[in-house]
Amino acid sequence: MPARKKSVISKASPHTIKKFELIEEYIKSWAQKLMLNNSCNGLIFIDCMCNSGIYTDDAGEIVKGTAVRVSEALLEVARTYTDKTVYIYLNDKDAKRVDELEKHLPQNERNFQIVTSRLDAHELLKTIGPQLCQTGHLHYFLLYDPYDASIDWEALLPFFRNWGEVMINHMVSDPVRAITRAKRKTTKEKYENTYLEDFEKLVPFGSNKTAYEARVEEIISSLHGTRKYYVAAFPFYNMKVSHTYNHNVEFSIFRGDYRTALLCNSASSPIDTLKTDLLFQNFNLVCKCFIYP
Ligand SMILES: C[S@@+](CC[C@H](N)C(=O)[O-])C[C@H]1O[C@@H](n2cnc3c(N)ncnc32)[C@H](O)[C@@H]1O
Repeated sequence: MPARKKSVISKASPHTIKKFELIEEYIKSWAQKLMLNNSCNGLIFIDCMCNSGIYTDDAGEIVKGTAVRVSEALLEVARTYTDKTVYIYLNDKDAKRVDELEKHLPQNERNFQIVTSRLDAHELLKTIGPQLCQTGHLHYFLLYDPYDASIDWEALLPFFRNWGEVMINHMVSDPVRAITRAKRKTTKEKYENTYLEDFEKLVPFGSNKTAYEARVEEIISSLHGTRKYYVAAFPFYNMKVSHTYNHNVEFSIFRGDYRTALLCNSASSPIDTLKTDLLFQNFNLVCKCFIYP
């Protein structure tokens, strides 16, 4: 049977659309806060796995993804703070997706530059990472958003050691479903690389998502070098609610003011874990963020 052709424009489920909204709102607050700071000359936003920029929702309507939303929001920021510069790096290893994305992006302007690429994220981050220590008064935000539980810590390391933020989509639903059934060497290695642990030691984690989350947070906390930063985690749930329970669940993931919480000025817990009776947690956004003055 011929392999099914992958569509360039993917379907986005409601929890994924909420993720787009959350990142867009977070970036608006992040940009505003930094641009008002005299020691910041500009911003760098990187989505190293950006997809095609647009999606279809459950009703078949077009929905903008993170790359397009953030580009539009940061264009406004660049037009407001004309003496500061915004750089945006959008990358995906799937060239066709980047071709589609380019149709939906705003044009570059004097102080607003978008650079697109079609590389493996590892390659992109290995190029940008070492340059970070020379960027001085530019502040970066890196979004690391794969489809599965793959985290390339080596490529991420420079981003933990410099002045900026990293948001990782830890696809916890992947090991929860698949780790006990993993047979292939490459699959086992994927989990070993993500959780920096021998596969045999990971198997007992089984479907205990808290164990995987704790491991990722532990790794992030151990990477900081001499800098101090917050590590915050925020779970996202899908909406598949079984009819047997007859639940009619509102999708309200934002309790309280998460922006204030993430861009925290105090030593209080940066993010509140969401408690809900939705059935299955798909992914967990884990952020490393600095305490802004
Ligand atoms: C979850 S989607 C990204 C969604 C996007 N960040 C957004 O919010 O709209 C994952 C994307 O990662 C890309 N991808 C997966 N592994 C990659 C890698 N190693 N390097 C570059 N792109 C990768 C896939 O082609 C896919 O388009």
